[in-house]
Amino acid sequence: MLDKIRTLLLQYRTPLALSVGSLAVVALAFVLWRHFTGRTPSPQPSDAADTLAVAPSRTLVVYFSATGTTRPIAQTIATQLQADLFELVPQQHYSSDDLNWRDPHSRVSWERDNSTHRRIALQNAHPDHFDQYQTIVIGYPIWYGTYSWVIDEFLRTNDFTGKLIYPFATSGSSGIDDSVTDLRAVLSSGQVQAGRRFASDASSQDIAAWTARIYTALRPAQLPEPDDVRVLDSNYIAPPVATPSPTPAATNSARPLL
Ligand SMILES: Cc1cc2nc3c(=O)[nH]c(=O)nc-3n(C[C@H](O)[C@H](O)[C@H](O)COP(=O)(O)O)c2cc1C
Repeated sequence: MLDKIRTLLLQYRTPLALSVGSLAVVALAFVLWRHFTGRTPSPQPSDAADTLAVAPSRTLVVYFSATGTTRPIAQTIATQLQADLFELVPQQHYSSDDLNWRDPHSRVSWERDNSTHRRIALQNAHPDHFDQYQTIVIGYPIWYGTYSWVIDEFLRTNDFTGKLIYPFATSGSSGIDDSVTDLRAVLSSGQVQAGRRFASDASSQDIAAWTARIYTALRPAQLPEPDDVRVLDSNYIAPPVATPSPTPAATNSARPLL
């Protein structure tokens, strides 16, 4: 038996030695390459484009806009943060008559004076993958000094536990602080950060001054594990871009999270 094994080894030792030798050379080359470059193989350009969306994809911009002032600001914020965008749309649309706060018989006056009528049903109050978002930016018009009650169903029927929430508002002149206090009372499980009120003519630079602060807070929490080569290779250091996108980043269609 031993003789047979010895014969076989003698017969195949040259090819065997060559194969083992080749493998060793390849492994050594790989180890040296990693040592000197500090990285694994670079992604292709298409992969690099994907990586730009990795870090911020856990951010969702949610907004309601009755007359269209809050919408473009929400779109700009989503573009600057490379976040997903979700519009809260009432099942029963508000006409301009409905929104006439000077008319004591208008819909908003009626809803303001009757709390049971302030429960506005939304077409969809539940963004896809909501549990996977770490940061929620929420925008609304100020109504009667606080956030429009249209966003209530969204606030009350989603779980904000552990999420960072950044409110922003548009208004004729009122500040945002009272609405932030009211948000904190409703969203006790999340961490509602200081808010920002924007004028209707806010520039993308005005908005970027705020989103840059959010962006800085996002990075440590959202960077993948240190050995995730796609992000290490992405050079992902760009601050929010000050140029608004002509089209929304996405509307009510949260893309799959990476
Ligand atoms: C019912 C109602 C109440 C409002 N209350 C206030 C208010 O208390 N303070 C204020 O500065 N603006 C108030 N406004 C003005 C809106 O906040 C402002 O026009 C906002 O930019 C509208 O945003 P939108 O176009 O996205 O709905 C009110 C508007 C409406 C329709």
